[in-house]
Amino acid sequence: MSSATGLQVFPGATWTASDGRHIQAHGGGIIKVGSTFYWHGEDKTHGTGFHNINCYSSTDLVQWHYDGSSLTQQESGDLGPDRIVERPKVVYNKHSGMYVMFLHIDDLDYGEGKVGIATCDTVNGRYEYIGSFHPLGYESRDMGVFVDDDDKGYLTCEDRPNGIHIFELSQDYLSVVEQVHLFPEHLESPAMIKRDGLYYLFASGLTFWFANDNLYTTATSLTGPWAGWRMFAKPASATYSSQVAFILPIGPSSALYMGDRWQYPGLPRSTYVWLPLEIDGRDVKMDNPQSFAIDVSTGAMAIPRSSRSYPPRIETSEERGQSETLASFVLEIGQETEGLTIALSYSTACEDEKVALVTIDGSEVEHHVAFLGNSSAQKESFSVVHWTERLPKGQHILKVVGPGSKSEGLQIRAAVDYHIPQ
Ligand code: DGJ
Repeated sequence: MSSATGLQVFPGATWTASDGRHIQAHGGGIIKVGSTFYWHGEDKTHGTGFHNINCYSSTDLVQWHYDGSSLTQQESGDLGPDRIVERPKVVYNKHSGMYVMFLHIDDLDYGEGKVGIATCDTVNGRYEYIGSFHPLGYESRDMGVFVDDDDKGYLTCEDRPNGIHIFELSQDYLSVVEQVHLFPEHLESPAMIKRDGLYYLFASGLTFWFANDNLYTTATSLTGPWAGWRMFAKPASATYSSQVAFILPIGPSSALYMGDRWQYPGLPRSTYVWLPLEIDGRDVKMDNPQSFAIDVSTGAMAIPRSSRSYPPRIETSEERGQSETLASFVLEIGQETEGLTIALSYSTACEDEKVALVTIDGSEVEHHVAFLGNSSAQKESFSVVHWTERLPKGQHILKVVGPGSKSEGLQIRAAVDYHIPQ
């Protein structure tokens, strides 16, 4: 539970998974099975063309284990080289006992516009690709999927000529049965949730890889009437430079906005903007805190009240002589903790991803921390370390060590502790 442990989500930072690399799960979605969250998303390591749909798992939405590729490039066909396979969304079908993954399938020019389906009997296994189709003959690009309280499944599809469709799915979720509603507005990346009998549909404008002010609408029935589209983030903030990918309901009344901060050019360097949504009936608001903690059992989200930035410590000449240390910091911990998220401010003139090791007080525990390239020695970016070993109150020395070429050109500028009182 991240609020109890003090671990925090840092929107827009490099997020290192258990494989020591930045998470590659863009345009994704989350499904909870038991007490574990599974996140499927696009692996953009090689840019636009399809290579993998990756799967990561977590019990706190902060520390992510890389579970492997759920779908990988094939020799030819829909999943062949130079293909578009985007926006994976997984739902569980109670009738068949199968996990069903929906995808946007296309050619590199986005000229086909189809929905693809893959299935698996385990949520994080290798999915079997079934095929693609035009739902009821319409084009479909960005899509989302929603399962209602009665287990009926619905597909929301962006159709360039017509708008956004809501289609009802067959009982096994493998085909489309009928259209439930058509929004004439030209929006994409539809993401639906339901709260206290009210449906909420979120979507973005169509501005290629560039962010815009995303919108939402509400209705008490999927057939409508739907309220007028409204903004939920600060106007003209371009949804804090992000595009909605998925909305994750947590606990009885909370929901997490999961957006992509696409980096274009440089898609592999895209980050994730996850933020708490404040939902009050038909009113939805979203602020832009630097970081926040989530209690995954209740949905409570806590925002830090203060922060402390530590400059790099001046090393002794002996330390400098033997050192592969990129920077070290003296942290002042005001209260014993078993969960601390430290943000590392950094810059690098390189485009490629860097890796360094982080230790505290020379402990045997080492974290491999990734740092996305930011192509500028001036620009400040953040990566985060989630430290779950016990740290008593007092001073602690955090070291960032950079052995070998993987950390060449990386400048660690500061360590920042955003404090949530416990
Ligand atoms: C915007 C979409 O939301 C993305 O998923 C992707 O398809 C890009 N367009 C491609 O231009």
